Amino acid sequence: MLLSAFSPSTASQSGDSRVRGHELPSQRRGPNGLLVNLECGNCHRPIAADADLTYSDPKYRAATVSYSETGEFLPLRLDSLKAPKPVTGRERMASVKFANACASCHLLTFDKRFEEGAPHDQPEVVHAFLLGKFQQYIAAHPGELRVQRDPNRDLTGKTPAPSFRVLTPGQWITEGTAEAEELLWRKTCKQCHKLTNSPSSSRPQVAAAKETTQWMPHAKFDHDAHRGFTCVSCHAKALTSTEASDILLPGIATCKTCHAAGPGHAEIQASRAAYRRPVKIAFNGSLAGEA
Ligand code: HEC
Ligand code: HEC
Ligand code: HEC
Ligand code: HEC
Ligand code: HEC
Repeated sequence: MLLSAFSPSTASQSGDSRVRGHELPSQRRGPNGLLVNLECGNCHRPIAADADLTYSDPKYRAATVSYSETGEFLPLRLDSLKAPKPVTGRERMASVKFANACASCHLLTFDKRFEEGAPHDQPEVVHAFLLGKFQQYIAAHPGELRVQRDPNRDLTGKTPAPSFRVLTPGQWITEGTAEAEELLWRKTCKQCHKLTNSPSSSRPQVAAAKETTQWMPHAKFDHDAHRGFTCVSCHAKALTSTEASDILLPGIATCKTCHAAGPGHAEIQASRAAYRRPVKIAFNGSLAGEA
């Protein structure tokens, strides 16, 4: 997914955003090499629930990051709807974190000399980390300053005698860091992010993730009240979504399969959840709710 420029209001314009890893049932190769089916709960959880750590990475979870991690919370408007119950933290889903849900499969490896991955952070932080790593490495392995040139064949087909360049530690560090960054910016980060280059910086900018954690500012939709139902009974589109700009929220027709609409809801198109409790509509067996 390109976690970029995404908010309900810009969704339709952000055609270049994508949640590619999101297509489900998503058979993906897990960290142990086995194919696994990603489930909604591997990435999503109510705010007050503990994260599912199947695909987390302890190192990334423990890391403090330089960017602000807040999702986009639309303010609850006090003049509109009274919250039916006290807030429990189980109404809404927490925003999805790289450290919790992606890190164990999507490694941010940058060079085969190092097992660990780059920090999941702003490019400046990644850059400083890489410089430090390559500095330490060459201090411990000075023999690697002697670098073999690519063996070019000349036109006669003869392989020229091997030639070497002997770099200063400074040159070696600069080259190593540049190669690692080339890989990260051009390939690794780009899988999920929209990166933009500005003439004033040698490093790209990562567009803000801007995950929306509350879609209906006038309402308090409660996932907990609906916990008996499968996620796809309301978010059917999540099964085929590949773009971060896809809106996966149910329309009012979905609500009406169980709820009778209350008065004054003509305006609703997934923008307000002021419905009465389920009334006498059978689903999955039976539910005879109160009127
Ligand atoms: C691999 C992790 C992953 C899995 C598995 C996953 N999601 Fe998501 N989902 C995400 C991420 C990341 C976002 C945030 C994207 C954004 O804000 O644009 C998201 C956003 C959403 C949204 C809100 C945003 C919108 O565009 O409407 C809904 C609803 C949703 N997912 C439902 C589901 C359901 C239902 C399932 C299971 C069928 C599921 N997801 C499985 C990662 C996942
Ligand atoms: C597998 C997908 C994935 C990859 C690969 C990835 N990220 Fe992320 N990134 C995320 C998700 C999900 C978030 C949402 C917030 C979070 O995880 O803290 C995010 C958030 C961020 C943010 C915060 C954006 C904001 O809202 O201000 C930065 C900065 C960032 N990533 C940088 C990077 C860099 C640099 C790389 C490459 C070294 C990278 N990411 C690779 C998934 C990814
Ligand atoms: C179980 C392991 C696993 C988890 C967890 C996982 N992914 Fe992936 N993902 C994969 C594999 C495997 C690929 C395919 C990689 C490839 O083709 O190079 C992939 C590919 C992707 C792609 C590129 C899709 C494409 O077709 O180009 C995106 C974007 C992505 N994942 C985002 C995410 C995000 C965001 C998360 C966390 C919210 C996540 N993934 C969690 C295994 C996983
Ligand atoms: C009865 C219908 C229904 C069911 C079942 C349902 N959702 Fe939702 N979901 C909604 C509605 C409505 C919203 C928009 C609520 C809001 O944010 O104002 C939403 C929002 C979301 C969001 C965006 C963030 C948020 O909380 O606003 C995610 C992610 C999500 N749902 C995931 C799931 C997952 C995962 C499941 C299964 C565990 C699930 N949903 C089950 C109706 C449903
Ligand atoms: C599959 C059936 C089903 C669907 C679809 C459904 N609901 Fe419900 N809803 C229920 C049930 C059952 C309850 C009662 C839960 C309880 O009393 O604990 C409920 C309760 C509620 C409540 C009261 C919540 C509370 O805090 O007690 C609201 C508001 C609500 N639903 C809104 C919606 C909206 C909005 C949609 C569409 C996005 C929707 N529902 C779709 C079955 C459904």
